[in-house]
This record gives sequence, structure tokens and C-alpha cells, in this order.
Amino acid sequence: MELIGAEVGGDILRINLGAFRPYLITRPEHLDRVLYDNKENYQRQGWLWRPLSRLIGDPSGSDDLWWTKREVFQNLVSGPSIKRFSDAMARTISASVQEMAARAENGRPLDAADEMARIVYRAITKVLIGDKITNDQADRIGAALQAASAALRPRLAFPFVPNAVPFPGDRTFRRAVRVVDSLVFPIVEQAQRQGSDGEDIVSRLLQARTADGQRFDLQQLRDGLVSLFVAGTETTTIALTFLWTVLDSQPQVAETLQQEVDRVVGDGPITGAHLLELGYARKVALEMLRLYPPGWMLPRMVANDDVIGGVPIKGGSLIVMSPYLTHRLPDVWENPLEFDPGRHDPGQQRHRFAYMTFGGGPHACVGKQFFTAEVQLILAAITSRFRPQVVGSPPTRPQLGLTLRPRQRVQIRLRQTGPLAKR
Ligand code: HEM
Repeated sequence: MELIGAEVGGDILRINLGAFRPYLITRPEHLDRVLYDNKENYQRQGWLWRPLSRLIGDPSGSDDLWWTKREVFQNLVSGPSIKRFSDAMARTISASVQEMAARAENGRPLDAADEMARIVYRAITKVLIGDKITNDQADRIGAALQAASAALRPRLAFPFVPNAVPFPGDRTFRRAVRVVDSLVFPIVEQAQRQGSDGEDIVSRLLQARTADGQRFDLQQLRDGLVSLFVAGTETTTIALTFLWTVLDSQPQVAETLQQEVDRVVGDGPITGAHLLELGYARKVALEMLRLYPPGWMLPRMVANDDVIGGVPIKGGSLIVMSPYLTHRLPDVWENPLEFDPGRHDPGQQRHRFAYMTFGGGPHACVGKQFFTAEVQLILAAITSRFRPQVVGSPPTRPQLGLTLRPRQRVQIRLRQTGPLAKR
């Protein structure tokens, strides 16, 4: 894929993925057509979305309730809300890091993906669902969602097979969905019975109405909760796992980050107030996601014939946007392969679709601020107490599958710091 991108320098072309041949769209000005000028023509259906709909409900955004749901999510995980829950998030993350430390005693190596997943699932569930869920339930939902997402992979190689036709992975998938449902439905049903005026996601969805007064039924509430989980956890877990490999390969960046955390957090507990001061950590997270965007390809079905950059695009076909390739175009990002957090300093002028890690247009990610806050706090919680060391030298070159992820399992050791151990 990287080779294709480099060879065509952002030109539109059809790529041969065996069972189907989507158009590859990478240039920001071409993305303008897909995500802005003619956005209604490019729909979240077909490849990736059809199999995923069995887990999260219809993702196409075809009715008012769907847009109401997006608004609820947006209000919940961005803007002033971040400030409101950042202390709770900091406390949850600190507690999870404490537990991780117990597992790392005597220099035992830890699997970074498993550890990061645990921290992320707890942070998102505690902050967004609050006391409606226990740690144990959060861990079990997390494990089941990971199993469901892995079981979907075989289907993605055969995008035109209807969901009703049996396929490898189906049984595991159904089992995982049953586990998710057995945990999520009771939470939603109980909230529905008791009525809920809290600030958590279930309460907000229960209170929400469309302009003409429609409200979410039980299934839609369940879908809402699960889709927020799916959107907010796997990507974040992959990103955080990758981060340790990247920091290992960028000692200067790691050192500057450490200095920031030492200065801002010192020996004290992390709090939400630290977020404003952890600016370098934020830029490191964004730059890491520029080079390694977990959602490295974003597919859309083309409704009607169109023309993008002079190239005719047939209605009924598939296009794939690729943040990964957009971020590697040398005329969009100077020296694109260089890791440079300074690119994310305020005031930089770039095309609105030059940075595509969080998508763009009507379905753009609502969780960017949540993500950056989460990473800032996780990095601070870990590096203020430990010097994490990556075991061996895992390659930074990613594996391009359904999501972009590290090529091999990443293991880390936590070396405790203290007044004597600190530089
Ligand atoms: C590394 C972290 C993350 C990455 C890379 C990421 C990436 C993305 C991308 C690329 C999209 C758009 C998909 C498309 O256009 O087809 C998206 C949508 C979405 N993201 Fe994120 N995301 C991240 C974290 C989060 C978090 C932490 C949350 C919530 C707390 C979240 C919630 C959502 C939601 C709800 C949508 C769907 C929006 C819609 O369909 O209108 N994301 N994300």
C-alpha cells in the first residue's frame, strides 16, 4: 500500500484487493469532494460497515435519530465536558496504572496491548457510564468487543457476501455479541426503568429527543452505547501500544516528554488541571497518529456517478480514503517520514483534510479531545512513576490490516523511579 501511495503521489487509482477494486483517494483536495462538496454521495455502507453493523447498528447516518445520537456523543466527549470529567479520568487512570504496576513487579515484562486496553476500557466506561458499571463488567465488555472485532476480519476480505450467508468467524462473533448484550442490555434496561437524569451516556441518550420528538428504544440505546465503546477503545488502545515503540525509537522525543512530565506532575498525583500544561505530550500523541493512524483506510460506497479531480467515479463502486497515505504525501507534509511533534504547534496553516487521523466531514471523529486528554493523562501517570522500557526492538513499521497496528506484540518493563532513581 505504501508503495502504491509513493508511486502515484496522490493520483486517484483503482486498487486490486482481490474480490473488489476500490478507488483510492488520498489528496486533500480530492477529499474535499468526498467529505464536503458532494458528501451525500459517499455513504458509510458496504465494505467494513455492513459486517460492523451487526455489532454497532446501522452506521450510515440515514435518519434523524442517528444525528441526534451523534450530537449526544459530541456534547459528552468534547468541549467543556472534558474539563468536567478530567479529574475523574485522572483518578481512574492512576488506579489502573497502580494495578498494572503490581503485575510488573520484579521486572516482569507486560504485554503493552493488554495493559493499554485495560486502562482505556476502564477510563472510558468509568467516565462515560459512571457507577452504572463495575470494573469487572468493563473488562468483560472490553474482552468481548475485542473478540468480536477480530472475528469480523475474515468477512472483510469478501465484502460482497451478505451477513446472512454463514462465514468463518461467525460463531465466535455471535458468542462475543451475546456476551456484550448480556452486559449492556441490563445496564440500559435498568436506566430505562428508573429514569435517569445523570451526566453519563445512558442518561443522556435516554433524555435525548429528535426535533420531532422521537426517542431511542432499547435496541437503539444498546447500539449507541456499544458504538461509542467500539469507536473509542480499539483505536485508542492501538495508538497507545504503538506509542511505546515510537518513543523507544525517538530517544530525544522521549527525553523531552519525560522532562515535561517531571516538571508538570513531579511526585504528586495527576489531575485534570495538568492537561493544559502537558502540551508536548499532546503534540507527541498527534504526531504519532499522523505517522500511524489506526484507521488507516476509511471506505465509502458511491451512490451516483461523480468526477473527482477529473477522474470519473462510478456509482455503486467503493472508494477508500487513506489517512496513512495522505500523511505521507511530501507536498502535503514536508519530510513526511520525519517524526516532528512541532508540526502540531498552534497556528500551522494546512488544508482542512491534510490531517485525516480523525476523519473529516459529516462523520468526523467526535472523540479527538477525549483521546488526547486520555493519552496525556496515561503518559503522565506512567512516566511520572516509571521509566517504561520496551523489550527487544520491535519494528516501528506497522502492519496494515483492518486497522493499522504494531507488527508484533509489544512488551514493556516498568522501572520504578523515585528521588534516587530520577535523573
Ligand atoms: C486514536 C484514537 C481515535 C482515532 C484514530 C479515531 C478515528 C476516527 C475516525 C477516522 C472516525 C471517522 C470514521 C469515518 O469517517 O468513517 C471516527 C469516528 C468516530 N469516533 Fe473516533 N477515533 C479515536 C478515538 C475516539 C474516542 C476516544 C471516541 C469517544 C470517546 C471516539 C468516538 C468516535 C465516534 C462516536 C465516531 C463516529 C462519528 C460519526 O459516525 O459521526 N473516537 N473516529
